[in-house]
Amino acid sequence: MKLYIVDDYNAMSKKAADIVSMQIKTKQNSVIGLATGSTPIGMYKELIKMHRKEKLDFSKIKTFNLDEYYKIHPQDNQSYRYYMMKNFFNHINIDHNNINIPNGMTNDTERECKLYEEKIQESGGIDLQILGIGTNAHIGFNEPNNKFEPYTHLVNLDKNTIKSNSRFFRSVEDVPAKAISMGIKTIMSSRKILLLANGDNKAQAIFESLKGPIVPQVPGSILQLHKDLTVIIDKKAARYL
Ligand code: GLP
Repeated sequence: MKLYIVDDYNAMSKKAADIVSMQIKTKQNSVIGLATGSTPIGMYKELIKMHRKEKLDFSKIKTFNLDEYYKIHPQDNQSYRYYMMKNFFNHINIDHNNINIPNGMTNDTERECKLYEEKIQESGGIDLQILGIGTNAHIGFNEPNNKFEPYTHLVNLDKNTIKSNSRFFRSVEDVPAKAISMGIKTIMSSRKILLLANGDNKAQAIFESLKGPIVPQVPGSILQLHKDLTVIIDKKAARYL
């Protein structure tokens, strides 16, 4: 594991963007796994700057997002598709046919999950997966559980997660109770993983994930087994390390 403890959110975002840009420059048709939430927004901003100033070229990349709420319409301004368009895709030269996000409106979740896995396989697998982490150490929407769910699946969101994500919604009642998420094996099959975290409220999840026992009750702890993991966290999130 490569661990970078940086001063603050800006430094974390810049370092993360450098790693993503290096990946794209080294392999133009990289398959990138993307995350949502507040953590990667700064990284997306930096990448947009690199596109504008240095002509960083996204035209050949393919992307797979970790997760999407269920049920939610893609145009709903709380959907992860909407978030991705607004915070990243609308500002870069990505081919929109190369964007993959689970369909939060499907009536057949089992089929949607199976197709999503197949698409990842057909693309040759994920070269670099970006991850944030929940305060309960969830990755993607893999919540603390008594077993690791390997593949893309429908998840019942934790009360904790619903409460913490309600800050983006009008009320707690508006947060969808479910989500479609890549599984632990899907995430772990990525050739490289980049984990980002900032702030005091992530310190415990980071400590348990990087230093604690590897158990499904702490989904992030599985990352200790990955062969090419880079962790970029600010000083606050590194408090207990
Ligand atoms: C969300 C997402 C995760 C994200 C995490 C942390 O619910 N499903 O992919 O990493 O929770 O969110 P934030 O970055 O806003 O703290």
